[in-house]
Amino acid sequence: MTKEELIERAKEARKLSYSPYSNFAVGAALLCKDGEVYVGANIENSSYPLCMCAERNALYNAYMHGKKKEDFVAMALCAASDDPCSPCGACRQVLSEIFPSSAPIYMSNLKGQVEETTIKELLPYAFSADDLK
Ligand code: THU
Repeated sequence: MTKEELIERAKEARKLSYSPYSNFAVGAALLCKDGEVYVGANIENSSYPLCMCAERNALYNAYMHGKKKEDFVAMALCAASDDPCSPCGACRQVLSEIFPSSAPIYMSNLKGQVEETTIKELLPYAFSADDLK
């Protein structure tokens, strides 16, 4: 699967968002080594802190299908943002633990702008299980 195709899957997943409070729909698509793609969209709630981001829903969707960190190849996300949509802090923390540190993360928007990064770049000095020792 190409980078463009993965971004397209994130754009499609965005349509599944439930975001009546922010009106900011986000889609994410996670590519695995076996070619499977797991998608997520943000799902909000009237009790605002319960809102769940697209990235975490995609990761948890993959986990619920038996996939693990070592199976992941790349993630794409897409929103109607001015600049390519960037993962929030909570998602960065989750990605730092269950997404490969150097795997590409394609941040995009509906204007077709794409920026490529990694979780290592997005969250240097991440808190991790090692810190609990
Ligand atoms: N959101 C995501 O799903 N992913 C991001 O990368 C940024 C923010 C969601 C959370 C909330 O439902 C809405 O976008 C506005 O913050």
